Amino acid sequence: MTSDLISVKVVEKSSVTDDYCVMKLTALDGAPLPMFSAGAHISAKTPQGGMRNFSLANDPEKREYYLLGIKAERNGRGASASMVDTVKAGDVLEILAPENDFELVSADQYLFIAGGIGITPILSMCRQLLREGNENFKLIYCSQSPDTTVFLDDVTAPDLAPYVTLHHDKGELSALYDFWPHMEIPDKRHIYCCGPKPMMEDIKDMSGHWPESQIHFEDFNPVQVLRADDRAFEVYLSKSGRRLRIPENQSILETLRSEGYDLKSSCESGSCGTCRTTLISGNADHRDLVLTDMEKETSIMICVSRAKNGELVLDI
Ligand code: FES
Repeated sequence: MTSDLISVKVVEKSSVTDDYCVMKLTALDGAPLPMFSAGAHISAKTPQGGMRNFSLANDPEKREYYLLGIKAERNGRGASASMVDTVKAGDVLEILAPENDFELVSADQYLFIAGGIGITPILSMCRQLLREGNENFKLIYCSQSPDTTVFLDDVTAPDLAPYVTLHHDKGELSALYDFWPHMEIPDKRHIYCCGPKPMMEDIKDMSGHWPESQIHFEDFNPVQVLRADDRAFEVYLSKSGRRLRIPENQSILETLRSEGYDLKSSCESGSCGTCRTTLISGNADHRDLVLTDMEKETSIMICVSRAKNGELVLDI
C-alpha cells in the first residue's frame, strides 16, 4: 500500500476508557526505533485500512519504544476506533517513521495547553524539558474527569506535578477552564496547544494579539473528509483506461485502494501532500490545505477532494 512502512510490535496496550487507550510499540528485533523530536507523530496503518496520525508521548531519548495515546473518533470513518477497539498486545502494526509539524522551539518559557488526548505530544515535550533540567514551563491539562484523563499517572508524578494544573470540567460548558488570564498580556512565552477543536479555536481567538511565531497548534483533523451532502461521482483513470464510481461515503483514495491500486498516503486528511495526484481535467472540489490555487488546476489530493460535478480525469 504505502512504501517505507516499518513493522512494529504492540508490546503493551491499556485502556483508559472505552474511547481512549495507551499503546507501546517496539521494533520487531528490539532495536532502537527511528529518531524523533518532541511533538512528533507517526502514521500507522489501522485495522480499518486507513492511515492515521498518532502523536508520540515518550521522551525522544527513549527510542526503544514509541508510546502512543489514542482516542477513538466515534464520528469518524472508523480508523482510530479500530485502533482502540481491536488492536491488542502482540499484534504487529505497520507505521511510517516519525514526522514533526509541532516542533518544540528553543524559548525562555513555555505554556503548554492540552485537552483530552492532546496531552500526548505535549507530554513528550515536558519529558524532554524535565530531562534537560529546564523548569521554565507550565502545563494546563483539561479533561472531563480523573477517569478520562490519559497519562494521569504521568502528569501527577512527583517530577512533573509541580508544573501541572489539572482541570476537570465534567463536560460542562460552564466549567471550562478560563485561559484568558494566561493570554491577556503577551510576553516571551511560546504557547503550545493541542486538544479538541473548540479549545484550539478559543486559544486562537485569545492569542490574536500575540506574535504568531509564539503560538503553536497541533491539529490532526484540519478538514472534514466526508460531508453529509456528499454525492457519488466518477473518475476516469487515464493510464489504466478505467472508469470508477466513487461512492458518497468513500474518498477517491479509499475506492482506488479497494480496487487494488498501490497508492501512497500519510495523513489522509488533506494536510501532508503525500497523495498528490495529477488532475488532467474535471471540476474538482478541493478540500486539502496544501495546494495553491494555481496548483489546484493540475493536481488533486485524493484522500479528501472530490468532484463538484461531472467526472474527474486522473493520471493514474
Ligand atoms: S495523504 Fe496527506 S494530503 Fe492526502
